[in-house]
Amino acid sequence: MSSRRPSERRGSDRRGSGAASRRPSIDPSRLIPMDRVTHVGGSDDFNVVFIGAGNIMFGSDEGPWNHSFRFEHKLGRRLKVVALIDPAIERATAVLQKKCDSFVVSAYQDTRVFKTFEDFVRNMAPRDRPRAIIVGSPPMYRGSTQPGRDIELQILKYFPGVAIFLEKPVATGPEEEIQEAFKIAQMINDSKTICSVGYMLRYLKAVQMMKQIIDENNLTVMSTIARYACAYQAISKPEWWDKAKSAGPIIEQGTHFCDLSRYFGGEVDIASVQAHSLEWDENAGQLSKMAVDESKIPPERRIPRVTAATWKYDSGAVGSFTHVVALQGSNYSCEFEVYADGYSLKLVNPYVQPVLYIRKPGDDNETTVRFADDDPFFSEVSNLIDIIEDIEEEPEAAQILSSYDDAVRTYEFTWAIRKASERSREAKLKASADAAAALKAGV
Ligand SMILES: NC(=O)c1ccc[n+]([C@@H]2O[C@H](COP(=O)([O-])OP(=O)(O)OC[C@H]3O[C@@H](n4cnc5c(N)ncnc54)[C@H](O)[C@@H]3O)[C@@H](O)[C@H]2O)c1
Repeated sequence: MSSRRPSERRGSDRRGSGAASRRPSIDPSRLIPMDRVTHVGGSDDFNVVFIGAGNIMFGSDEGPWNHSFRFEHKLGRRLKVVALIDPAIERATAVLQKKCDSFVVSAYQDTRVFKTFEDFVRNMAPRDRPRAIIVGSPPMYRGSTQPGRDIELQILKYFPGVAIFLEKPVATGPEEEIQEAFKIAQMINDSKTICSVGYMLRYLKAVQMMKQIIDENNLTVMSTIARYACAYQAISKPEWWDKAKSAGPIIEQGTHFCDLSRYFGGEVDIASVQAHSLEWDENAGQLSKMAVDESKIPPERRIPRVTAATWKYDSGAVGSFTHVVALQGSNYSCEFEVYADGYSLKLVNPYVQPVLYIRKPGDDNETTVRFADDDPFFSEVSNLIDIIEDIEEEPEAAQILSSYDDAVRTYEFTWAIRKASERSREAKLKASADAAAALKAGV
């Protein structure tokens, strides 16, 4: 049985309730594949509530995500999913039925389905009090202080002290509400709530090796260069293509690489962000294999095909990011580079088969490191549970790498990129209109 240590001895930034001043890291050798992990000791039930019965929680063909699977492996027979909350009752019931038909039945046989969080609060038996609440509902229902879009505040109110995991992005509401997300971050910090946000790329072994090289060699990052090309043909959710629903591809998807950029480059000087976009109505922006009927989306809400941004970090370093909606098929093409004096660290294909190319002083050739069997989704869940369980033997082993406060800063940054690209587009349209008017007037 594992020994525990008192909470007051824990550093708050390990628990995801600290401000973003210091970004934690994990020794990459501690990121262990799921099949080589032994369950945390003990036989007591570990009650969990899942909010959202969709792809992130129960898996889909679109990617490797599936939180329930990782919780099952981490907690073994201790896992008790006391409630599954989703307004789509049929979907929730169907995924539960599948679980109950499988060997993980013990975690789900007593799971109750609720349409809303309030229903769960009203009907919860005391023995069902959760130790962790996992939020995988769409981002439009969180990150604000408005009723119905304030799940964090509801959790803090009804379950003070209970750990929270939230998917990224923290919100997709209007830009004016970013300050509300900062207020929520403050409340999470003040209440010392354990809180982790789903920027799982931070948990990649390759990413932690990059951190290790930077730390061990005392390097100062000079530049981050990120490129994210998605396979648009595989994206069939109409909301993704609608800026009014998803907030656009930088805020919804590119956010992972914007977050990685901040993880390495530090705080972004938001006022310095500049960006350009290739829009749906420009000649080069025509796509032939879209899985949705874009004509059903009002023109002003259609998404850009390319967004390219540059910015300064507070440190003086320079960052850049290009997001492209151009590839067909199903695999994405993503690369992330970090430069420091004498070094380049290039991460390729982080979603499918991560490869790290390292160039160091004294050798013009790159060393290639491949990471087979790495599962950042599992490491993310595993670290969260270890923090909740407060294991003593290896005090530095577990870390929450993405706190709420830090995730709100990424959210603010992605909004800044979107707004900068929209400003560039308006300026270009105005210049074209002025030129046409001048031509007409014979100036
Ligand atoms: N980290 C990653 O790589 C990754 C991958 C996929 C999805 N995600 C994130 O996970 C979140 C969910 O995405 P998804 O693909 O699972 O979506 P989804 O549409 O497949 O599932 C969302 C589910 O939430 C339910 N829902 C809607 N409103 C709700 C509410 N108020 N309370 C509870 N449930 C509600 C829906 O009925 C649906 O079943 C998004 O924030 C997305 O960005 C992250």
